[in-house]
Amino acid sequence: MSAVDVIRTKRDGGRLSDEQIDWVISAYTRGVVADEQMSALAMAIFFNGMDATETARWTAAMVDSGETLSLSVNRPTVDKHSTGGVGDKITLPLAPLVAACGAAVPQLSGRGLGHTGGTLDKLESIPGWRAQLSTSEIAAQLDTVGAVVCAPTEGLAPADRKLYALRDVTATVDCIPLIASSIMSKKIAEGADALVLDVKTGSGAFMRRLDDARGLARALVDIGADRGLRISALITDMSVPLGRAVGNAVEVAESVDVLRGGGPPDVVELTLALAREMLALAGLSVDPAPVLASGAAYETWCAMIAAQGGDPHAPLPRPTHTHMVSAPTSGILSTLDAFAVGVAAWRLGAGRARKEDPVQPAAGILCHAKPGDRVDAGDPLLELHTNTPDAIPAALAALEGAFTLTDTTPEPRRPLIIETLRPQP
Ligand code: URA
Repeated sequence: MSAVDVIRTKRDGGRLSDEQIDWVISAYTRGVVADEQMSALAMAIFFNGMDATETARWTAAMVDSGETLSLSVNRPTVDKHSTGGVGDKITLPLAPLVAACGAAVPQLSGRGLGHTGGTLDKLESIPGWRAQLSTSEIAAQLDTVGAVVCAPTEGLAPADRKLYALRDVTATVDCIPLIASSIMSKKIAEGADALVLDVKTGSGAFMRRLDDARGLARALVDIGADRGLRISALITDMSVPLGRAVGNAVEVAESVDVLRGGGPPDVVELTLALAREMLALAGLSVDPAPVLASGAAYETWCAMIAAQGGDPHAPLPRPTHTHMVSAPTSGILSTLDAFAVGVAAWRLGAGRARKEDPVQPAAGILCHAKPGDRVDAGDPLLELHTNTPDAIPAALAALEGAFTLTDTTPEPRRPLIIETLRPQP
């Protein structure tokens, strides 16, 4: 087998055979296929795509490049994956809620890159909390607490880790077969019985257009169903930040509000919708709303944080500097652009530009008003938090044109949960 032949097949618009896919993924993981050859292949796939059969095989080869966790727990296992958005802290209340309803939730999560935040970065703002767990620690915590949110173990889908880093620097990330196989290889290797996907669409999402989000959701669901996973996808709106908090510690605080029976209505709505879908796929007929209201999910949250060395009751980091953006006129807030708010929070230090950059736990933005709210001139709109005040002008520049105030009630926005996709019969 030769890398040049594999590249040429795809460059010329052909289909990759199972043997070509298995070989190229394995050889790339072992360093036999060079980065420049894999870059050329990724670009050929970017332009010529892969069909569903090729994508399924590509995913399987990436799963086989490493270990698969065997989660022998005595409850059904179910996970959630979000394609990422601004203010998307849903994993934080969701994992303990679904565990409190009787399922086991092994959620191997990522760090933020660019304008979308990362779950691990958010949780690391809790004093003492540890993201890196061994396979046996994950299994033990699933047994005792029922929920684990942690970093992927080293041995999980190493081909994807290498390829994703390469795609990042070769402009080949935004390609549906490569995204779908990347996400699903990690989720399949994680070994849960069921998976619910939250595929976001709108300005703050990876897939800004609804049709692209549908395409990605379909590709993800098809790969999972092909592997025998119980799987479905919710396509949800990401044109406005989720909730009122965007950043790290501020999102943890908002998640705790939800777990204690409060929190913004959109965060509660999406948490409950995803919990219902996860529980249905796990075969548990439990209504998560009363479980959330009872405080049982908050207790599971405290146990989950403590099991990973964190103090769930410790004060969260506070910023050294804040800056308020106030309403320039009176009116109804009709738009608040998720992408602009995400970029501003990132510039304040909540996110990173390169994988190795640190993040500031206290950085972020609090949205004092959301679309539909009436405000008077001078009322607080956006509260910027940072430890690096020099970053404030750049954050303000990102927020230019990010919101509009109108005299009349705006048209109703599309629903938060736009549609649900299930495997094709
Ligand atoms: N997230 C992933 O894990 N992989 C991609 O390719 C894109 C987003």
